[in-house]
Amino acid sequence: MDYCNKKYCLITYGCQMNLHESEKLGGILSEFGYTETKDVKSADIVVFNTCCIRENAEKKAEGNIGALKSLKRNKKDLIIAVGGCMTQQKGYAEKLVEKFPFIDIVFGTHNLEDFKELLLRKSENVKHVISVSEGDSRIKEGTPKMRSSFPNGWVNVNYGCNNFCTYCIVPYVRGREKSRSVDSVISECKELIDNGYKEITLLGQNVNSYGRDLGDVDFADLLGKVSELDGKFRLRFMTNHPKDLSEKLIRAICESDKTCRSIHLPLQSGSNRILKLMNRHYTREDYLREVELLRKYMPDIAITTDIMVGFPTETDEDFMDTLSLVKKVKFAGAFTFVYSPRGGTPAAKMEGQIPEEISKRRIMELIDCQNAENRRQSKEYLNKTIEVLCEGFDKKKNKFLGRDTYGRMAYFSGVEGLIGKFVNVKITKTGGMSLLGEIVDIGE
Ligand code: SAH
Ligand code: SF4
Ligand code: F3S
Repeated sequence: MDYCNKKYCLITYGCQMNLHESEKLGGILSEFGYTETKDVKSADIVVFNTCCIRENAEKKAEGNIGALKSLKRNKKDLIIAVGGCMTQQKGYAEKLVEKFPFIDIVFGTHNLEDFKELLLRKSENVKHVISVSEGDSRIKEGTPKMRSSFPNGWVNVNYGCNNFCTYCIVPYVRGREKSRSVDSVISECKELIDNGYKEITLLGQNVNSYGRDLGDVDFADLLGKVSELDGKFRLRFMTNHPKDLSEKLIRAICESDKTCRSIHLPLQSGSNRILKLMNRHYTREDYLREVELLRKYMPDIAITTDIMVGFPTETDEDFMDTLSLVKKVKFAGAFTFVYSPRGGTPAAKMEGQIPEEISKRRIMELIDCQNAENRRQSKEYLNKTIEVLCEGFDKKKNKFLGRDTYGRMAYFSGVEGLIGKFVNVKITKTGGMSLLGEIVDIGE
């Protein structure tokens, strides 16, 4: 098959982990001679990298896959591939090709690295190539990457999850926790810095349990080692589990001049009864103690979180506990979700599923409460000058954008060549979450 001038279009759903997996898919397709297009219609291969964390994520992906039916009818050689978390669910791949018979390739989360072989198999005129295997304990290093988020480079530190929160599908579709070796992580970070990347984000479903399967190293050690690399760059990591956040790690964050003053610490609920049902292994008191400890070491640290409403049996009182904790902690940002039952998880079978209208009312109240806090914190930025790493250009706003060490986004006017530079920006206007400012000077 001649792959010259062929184009690929990648459509990604879900978390940062998935975004990074798509960079690997892009790398594999580029090695094959494909170039990228954002336009589905001009693509020779369309790859969906899916998410199944909530029902609406699945619906969205299925809707967009279905929409390709007529494109495929008019373009017989078009290859449609679907991978990611959705396809890794038991029995799902078969159901998917039954529903959408025009799909050519289905691959699971453990089969991404084999995508090249799957493409070759497809070129042998196989109708549906399906490759969804159970996870194994090996980590495949050396997959090429087509990075798409300069000046930030994503770096996996561990894969999978062992926590089995009762609502969550991730452990079923991503397999057990596996840590990459310190050397692999360090050499990837070094390569990024050598190539001009200015921000590194270490990725794992729970970075705090990094190294448990390796033995003599933990995430605090790893963070310390990455921080020691030469060059001016920022270091971020996500995401954390409150049950595993150690004082050693808090100290390591504090002592590292590269690590940003922000941490994402998913709370999920402020009710001890619900936290127990969720199998989270901490209480609201434990969570508050961690917040206190973080602020003891770093009084200015920005704490962001994930919160869910409408978990089975959640009462108004439970929800009030969540709301009161949110008010107490004063988060710098919160992702809020309505609980969505996921097939195969224990919570989906629990009695006391909450009607949608109640969950909706709760989430609106929660969002209002957090929005007020966002506005309050934004106001404190007025007339201050902050160091921002310019990470892109927003065509709609016609402004450059970048975040400060706390993760707060600022927009500003500027000339070409700013992306990847540290700039000092004076904030002139504040809104909900984002800030508007003017460049004072441009650094490295
Ligand atoms: N490993 C990460 C979470 C990954 S999923 C962690 O533990 O922090 C991101 C967020 O999605 C979770 O924090 C949770 O708030 C939300 N989420 C997970 N499963 C969900 C479900 N079934 N319904 C609604 N939200 C869910
Ligand atoms: Fe899901 Fe819990 Fe694992 Fe996060 S820690 S991925 S919420 S099971
Ligand atoms: Fe991420 Fe969604 Fe999978 S949140 S790990 S892409 S289920």
